[in-house]
Amino acid sequence: MSDPTPQTPVSDWGQQISADGAFPADRARQAALKAMKAIRGGAYANLALGDVLAHSGLSSRDATFATELVYGTCRNLGVLDAIIEAASGRSLKTLQPGVVDVLRLGAQQGLKMRVPNHAAVSTSVALAASAVGQRVKGLVNAILRRVMVRDWEEWIDHLASGMGELDALALRTSHPRWIVDVYTSVLPADEVESALEADNVAPVPTLVVRPGLIARDELLTWGGTPTTYSPWGVVREGDPAQVEAVRDGRAGVQDEGSQLVASLLAIPDAPQGPWLDICAGPGGKAALLMGLARERGEALVAGEIHPHRAVLVQQGLRAYRTPAVVVADGTRPAWGRCFARVLVDAPCTGLGALRRRPEARWRKGPKDLDALVPLQKALLASAFASTVSGGLVVYITCSPHPQETIDVIESATGVEILDAPGLLGVPDARSLLNEQCVQLWAHRHHTDSMFAALLRVQ
Ligand SMILES: C[S@@+](CC[C@H](N)C(=O)[O-])C[C@H]1O[C@@H](n2cnc3c(N)ncnc32)[C@H](O)[C@@H]1O
Repeated sequence: MSDPTPQTPVSDWGQQISADGAFPADRARQAALKAMKAIRGGAYANLALGDVLAHSGLSSRDATFATELVYGTCRNLGVLDAIIEAASGRSLKTLQPGVVDVLRLGAQQGLKMRVPNHAAVSTSVALAASAVGQRVKGLVNAILRRVMVRDWEEWIDHLASGMGELDALALRTSHPRWIVDVYTSVLPADEVESALEADNVAPVPTLVVRPGLIARDELLTWGGTPTTYSPWGVVREGDPAQVEAVRDGRAGVQDEGSQLVASLLAIPDAPQGPWLDICAGPGGKAALLMGLARERGEALVAGEIHPHRAVLVQQGLRAYRTPAVVVADGTRPAWGRCFARVLVDAPCTGLGALRRRPEARWRKGPKDLDALVPLQKALLASAFASTVSGGLVVYITCSPHPQETIDVIESATGVEILDAPGLLGVPDARSLLNEQCVQLWAHRHHTDSMFAALLRVQ
């Protein structure tokens, strides 16, 4: 689900419900609380919210409010928690989880949305009473009143006093410190803050044609504007499911950065022969590459280890009518050295797609790399072993983290690293750490921050 900007000022929404002096535990906030509980239990924010809204019967205006509230709360979670702990003088661990959810939502409304403080407090008290129990009303009221003593900027200044520069930057941009360190290691110093800020802006949905099935001009008849760099994309506000071509599979939803890095596989000359997407689920890149392969008279095989994700690939390719999807562990391929072009879009931390996953930044940690990097290296080695001599391998992550990008590529042997940024032709897309590799950035290119390397197998 996208993260829409509210069509009506949220302050209207807050004032409207307070007009009669009563603050009911209204259904929009109840829906937001339900979603927060599911997210606390490990659900993805977009799926949890989508599920709650589908059964809520909310008007689109209330659904927009609930969406902004949940996504904003998830994005700011670490900072909201620090504020609530400072205001209450107690650790969140000493509070019931349901109370913590209400406090987070209340603090987000009062400090980051245009809900008047008194409305944020009173509706939260009513919400706590209905969801947790009458006995917590006083506690929620007392803590939120102390939260509202300062505005957001004043809280940031207060919490940041005495902190080092990077800790303060992490606080100001609502990121865990380790992610600030990663960005600092791969970007010029004067771009780090704008890169972090770009994670706080939800992208407008981008559509993509399935080449050979529909031209971009036809896709544009449903509205939107052409993507800046990709010849296959359309940026279009609104629900993609309203577009008939998306519904019938001739088009899909795909970030422009994903379109660009996947297309690298099609650019240089290579021997003739079939193409392979070695870890394809849910299938966005496989669908684009299938069209590009077919334009050259070649076939594409899409592999995926998880059967339920292989089904998603199959659905994404359905309009081509000749999909070849196999459930297979890409690190132990059942095929030989028979592919001319192979894509490795490796499982990764996803640090380059934080703008579309509001909850993700607080869930991930550097420890995730312990399992990911060996898997990434194994998939890449397997891709090399599947590629004929002179064939191409593209290695992609939706992450700029050096350990899962440059380090993986630079440890590879028996391959030539080609000039991917030069071939792609997108400005300012050279990785700072290895200029033969592509690094897109949300703050520069308005795409996800994708990494890509193009390798020729010897
Ligand atoms: C980053 S996603 C690929 C995204 C995909 N290219 C797209 O554009 O929709 C990585 C995929 O690799 C799959 N995967 C993980 N380990 C794998 C393995 N050993 N073999 C094959 N697929 C694997 C994951 O289940 C996941 O679907």
